[in-house]
Amino acid sequence: MAGGVTGGSTATWSDRFEQGLNPFIEAFNASIGFDFNLLQEDLDGSIAHARMLASCDVISAEDADQLVQGLERIRSEAKDGLFQPGLSDEDIHFAVERRLIALLGPVGKKLHTGRSRNDQVGTDLRLWLRRRLDGLDVDLERLQIALWQQADHHRNTLIPGYTHLQRAQPLCLAHHLLAYLEMLQRDRDRLQDVRKRVNICPLGAAALAGTPVPIDRRRTAEDLDFDRIYTNSLDAVSDRDFCVEFSAAASLVMAHLSRLAEEVIMWASEEFAFVLLSDRCATGSSLMPQKKNPDVPELVRGKCGRVFGHLQGLLTMIKGLPLAYNKDFQEDKEALFDVVRTTNDCVKAMAILFEEGMSFRTERLEQAVERDFSNATDVADYLVAKGVPFREAYQLVGTVVRRCLENNCLLRDLDLAEWKGLHPAFEADLHDALAPRAVVAARRSEGGTSFERVDEQLKLWSERLKRIDGSSQPG
Ligand code: ARG
Repeated sequence: MAGGVTGGSTATWSDRFEQGLNPFIEAFNASIGFDFNLLQEDLDGSIAHARMLASCDVISAEDADQLVQGLERIRSEAKDGLFQPGLSDEDIHFAVERRLIALLGPVGKKLHTGRSRNDQVGTDLRLWLRRRLDGLDVDLERLQIALWQQADHHRNTLIPGYTHLQRAQPLCLAHHLLAYLEMLQRDRDRLQDVRKRVNICPLGAAALAGTPVPIDRRRTAEDLDFDRIYTNSLDAVSDRDFCVEFSAAASLVMAHLSRLAEEVIMWASEEFAFVLLSDRCATGSSLMPQKKNPDVPELVRGKCGRVFGHLQGLLTMIKGLPLAYNKDFQEDKEALFDVVRTTNDCVKAMAILFEEGMSFRTERLEQAVERDFSNATDVADYLVAKGVPFREAYQLVGTVVRRCLENNCLLRDLDLAEWKGLHPAFEADLHDALAPRAVVAARRSEGGTSFERVDEQLKLWSERLKRIDGSSQPG
């Protein structure tokens, strides 16, 4: 990252320094290799700051106009690939200021009045994260919509339900998918809550103590769409809680995606064979020609490691830091950038997977729910409805299941005479009550898997996911 139009002879440091940095230390110290990412936000923050300085008569309106034009010029140079700071610029804040001075001369030197890189970097980072948070919300909704559409398509499909990964009770497939919509909604709500604490403006706290320059902090905050300003200048420049909070919320997103990914991976195996992966989202083996691998969900599952790791890293970085700014904070960026990129990529990849990467094998699912004892609870519930105490009914069904296993048959294979021999309360309607579809339909308690309940939920979700109608589908 050398050369470009930046260059210039403006010294980074004051005249206190006589010698240049050791080249290794220069590289070790620099953050420009990654905080270039903050360019747009740095320009936005500086533009608001310049305008505020003029409105407070700290600089003239003409100077402010020149500064704003210069900053916009840097934006367009960057767009054309002409703004390429080097290591000697240290970080994006110095790089922009240097370039501004090179462009404007002495006027450029007025921008940093009443401001420090400490409040500047905090402002940039919050603006950057706020924008990404909003982008992540859009992609989370896209994934919810993709899941909703599969659920809508499978409102009458059954799937075995498991506890301990042992067959438990049959479910409506839509019900299973809607569980993930709920989890993702909690994630979205959590992120919105984090946003409240991201959206507080530290600008004007200056280095740590405020400034004697008569600035108007509320004006810059308003200009940059912050909800409010930090009350305490020390807290303003040394708060990185929002990075931790965001990474914690992102970690839960990743945990949820990983659980969904794990199910898809199992469902795609020959043992389950509940889904078919389409060629759009699966890959082949270099050696085994018969294979189709679920790389997308595997990568999503695997990428949890880095997001959880960054959360730990950020907490450790902050711990034990005295007030106020410490250079340790420079370590927040790569972690946060990677958390945002990884989480967002994973959400998008899962959305694409559910949109076009897989389909449920309805016939396999129907067969799967026929061939097990997942209707055993329903025999007990049948007896309960006839007045038999649940624990007694439960014991009796346990005996029947054992007998069936010994005779290699299913509950529905027993005839009425055999049932009657076990308990006089059994009637001819038992057989129908044990069909998987009847078992699912019977679970009408609120939040249950019955088709009616699931229909209600699908409808509620379609109202909630505003962009669900085809016309405004995200691309
Ligand atoms: N590059 C620095 C960072 O990322 C910017 C703030 C530097 N402030 C300072 N006093 N050295 O944290």
